[in-house]
Amino acid sequence: MRILLMGPPGAGKGTQAAKIAEHFGIPHISTGDIFRAAINSGSELGRKLKQFLDAGKLVPDEVTIAVVRERLEQPDCENGFLLDGFPRTIPQAEALDQILREMGTELDIVLNISVAPEIIVQRLSGRRICRNCGATYHVKFQPPKHPGVCDRCGGKLYQRSDDNEETVKERLDVYTKQTAPLLDYYRKRGLLTQVDGNQSIDQVWSEIERTLRSIKK
Ligand code: AP5
Ligand code: MG
Ligand code: ZN
Repeated sequence: MRILLMGPPGAGKGTQAAKIAEHFGIPHISTGDIFRAAINSGSELGRKLKQFLDAGKLVPDEVTIAVVRERLEQPDCENGFLLDGFPRTIPQAEALDQILREMGTELDIVLNISVAPEIIVQRLSGRRICRNCGATYHVKFQPPKHPGVCDRCGGKLYQRSDDNEETVKERLDVYTKQTAPLLDYYRKRGLLTQVDGNQSIDQVWSEIERTLRSIKK
């Protein structure tokens, strides 16, 4: 299956993507995760990327498209993949079409997780991430068994540097201006399915699982 997962910051894309990837056995490709890994590696590219992420601005299309192209060309994407957080601009969506055409394939579905703005702020302010394995938690909605420690690997939990009030505001603004218009792009092609993200993690997952089961290829 070739799935694209969309939704505003904090909608629960990463949380649901982990479940989808495991359940359907496809790689989870998150451009945000790829960029954060580059930043943690301390490379020259990482240093440049950090400025965009910390400001809540989009990384330039050229860089982002090149990263995704390289990832989609890996052999583990041959039988399907799940894109989380890409594309975010019309040029990125057009580039994705081109890459998939070259691969002789196309998207099966675009899932859009929609969430009310006040819920987004609650979710992002309580989010914690494992420094070691990247697992996502929430102090209230998805707490780890021991505060500050990852259930999966025992790693230390941290707060993302872009999860502060000011940067979240900018990310939401960027989403509305640059990414939300993409919904029409996919709606017109009959690929868009809406998911109600204002429910619990398990409820959102069962809605997604049901939808994907019905189109399984
Ligand atoms: P990215 O990492 O993709 O951030 P984002 O889009 O802002 O989305 P988030 O990861 O913040 O939210 P999410 O929807 O994954 O929510 P999560 O599941 O964690 O991008 C970061 C930056 O990288 C961008 O700002 C940009 O600079 C750059 N970038 C990335 N892609 C790019 C691109 N294509 N082009 C250019 N630049 C790009 O959930 C949030 C919290 O809520 C968690 O704590 C979770 O436990 C909790 N939660 C989740 N679901 C529920 C629920 N149903 N009920 C209660 N709590 C829930
Ligand atoms: Mg995410
Ligand atoms: Zn961990």
